[in-house]
Amino acid sequence: MGLEKIIDKKNNDLSKKIDKQRVPEHVAIIMDGNGRWATKKGLPRSFGHNKGVSTLKEILKASKRLGCKVLTVYAFSTENWTRPRKEVNFLINLFSDVLQNEINGIHEESTKIKFIGDLSPFPETLKKIISSSESLTKKNNEFLFNVCVNYGGRQEIVKVARKLALKSFSGEIKPSEVDEELFNSELLTQGIKDPELLIRTSGEKRLSNFLLWQLAYSEIYISDLLWPDFNEYEFLKAIVDYQSRNRRFGGIESLNNKSFEDSQHSS
Ligand code: IPE
Ligand code: IPE
Ligand code: MG
Repeated sequence: MGLEKIIDKKNNDLSKKIDKQRVPEHVAIIMDGNGRWATKKGLPRSFGHNKGVSTLKEILKASKRLGCKVLTVYAFSTENWTRPRKEVNFLINLFSDVLQNEINGIHEESTKIKFIGDLSPFPETLKKIISSSESLTKKNNEFLFNVCVNYGGRQEIVKVARKLALKSFSGEIKPSEVDEELFNSELLTQGIKDPELLIRTSGEKRLSNFLLWQLAYSEIYISDLLWPDFNEYEFLKAIVDYQSRNRRFGGIESLNNKSFEDSQHSS
């Protein structure tokens, strides 16, 4: 399905509302609400996770078609280990199965897949599938698909701090050399532009330890839909909303490049 066919209920073509020149390069998503989606239907939570995979496949295609360059999704947080063992195991098996089934398609689309997070606690089977998927797609340069697993923003920042402290202790760097650029270069997202847009589904208005450093100036879009109900149309709605934002980065964009003094004289 092409972008042209994304028609909303009032028969408006949503794709016409999108300025193709200002599509966010990097979109990050907190895919939330799988469990509630299933529970509402009287189904086990695992059904929600399965359905969530279909949504992810749709959004991956949609973001690429729209012209985004990077999609980063939160699939499993460092805090998600506190869930019942049965659900954690289900998710681990789901990651393995989905990756095995989808990796060839991802590769054919010239998409590079990268896993962000501490992979060490995962079973060897999953670690092997992850590493072979990453090496298969490592030269692909059409699109970057980051999957955050056992990821926590605070843990990532603490690790960078520890690494820089060690480098400083060993004399490799001077403490005065620690700046944003150096810090950035040690993050798991090193070399990747910060997301311009963060989408969270299920109506929750929190970051839940996701990309704390990288989201410093991202626009945030909250959808009340549960992740399994989210779709390409809703994604485009988020993009239209993003394009209506005034990104000031601490400046005063409304002055339209007039200096502060100019604006004082003309008022
Ligand atoms: C998001 O859905 C998926 C993961 C965190 C793995 P949830 O499982 O958090 O679903 P809710 O929020 O309980 O409905
Ligand atoms: C955030 O969702 C983590 C993922 C989507 C993987 P959670 O459902 O774990 O977050 P909380 O518990 O609502 O903050
Ligand atoms: Mg949740």
